[in-house]
Amino acid sequence: MTPTSPSMDAQTVAVRYDGTTILLHWLTALLVLALFTLAVTWGLFERDTRKQLQSLHISLGILLAMVLVVRIAWRTTRGRRLPLAIEGLQGKAARGMHYLLYALLALQVVLGFTWRWAQAESFQFFGLVQLQFATLHRAALDDVLGELHDINGWTIVILAGLHAAVALVHRYVLKDGVLQRMLGGSRA
Ligand code: HEM
Ligand code: HEM
Repeated sequence: MTPTSPSMDAQTVAVRYDGTTILLHWLTALLVLALFTLAVTWGLFERDTRKQLQSLHISLGILLAMVLVVRIAWRTTRGRRLPLAIEGLQGKAARGMHYLLYALLALQVVLGFTWRWAQAESFQFFGLVQLQFATLHRAALDDVLGELHDINGWTIVILAGLHAAVALVHRYVLKDGVLQRMLGGSRA
């Protein structure tokens, strides 16, 4: 597919998301990557370091929650919403994937917060604020929330990986303008 292919009109190729949407998209991607990397590597460290990495996971998790709230608010108000890049089923599948990612990210934040709460651990935000809520410590709840947060975390990373792979196929195989829609530049 080329930029002039019938499945992608010229306007779609030329138009990008606005700068704020682009910034929030890449910030989300970076935070998800950092949160996941921390979670799958902290087991390699001894207790004190592990606890610090888990605290960092909470700080970055709180930041992700803030970014998501701003992102969804921006998208539903002033953010530029583009028409589907591709017509037909493929375009609908892409949109479905985007909504699914938003939903799973929101769910992950809820699961993460409630899991931490069930663990009777404090919430701290980069050492600036530390909050300790009344304990909800229940071993069974702790286990279930942990299992769900783990499964959902892996699901997000796998789906986001697929989503990124499709974006790269558009760029390097189909050579169309889909990836450019989410990259900064002067053609906006
Ligand atoms: C997309 C974002 C996130 C991903 C991919 C992610 C992934 C993970 C994974 C894979 C684990 C390890 C699970 C296990 O050991 O069984 C974990 C642990 C945890 N996550 Fe997340 N997480 C994310 C966001 C959050 C958020 C927003 C919070 C809430 C502030 C949070 C709170 C926690 C807690 C409390 C733990 C357990 C830490 C411990 O073992 O003490 N996570 N996360
Ligand atoms: C954890 C990582 C990521 C998440 C959670 C994520 C999530 C999303 C979401 C929710 C949208 C929909 C935007 C909207 O219309 O509101 C989107 C769009 C987009 N993403 Fe990602 N993304 C991630 C990583 C990536 C990566 C690594 C790439 C590129 C290699 C990428 C390329 C794109 C492109 C090109 C679009 C616009 C698609 C279009 O206009 O049809 N994303 N992403």
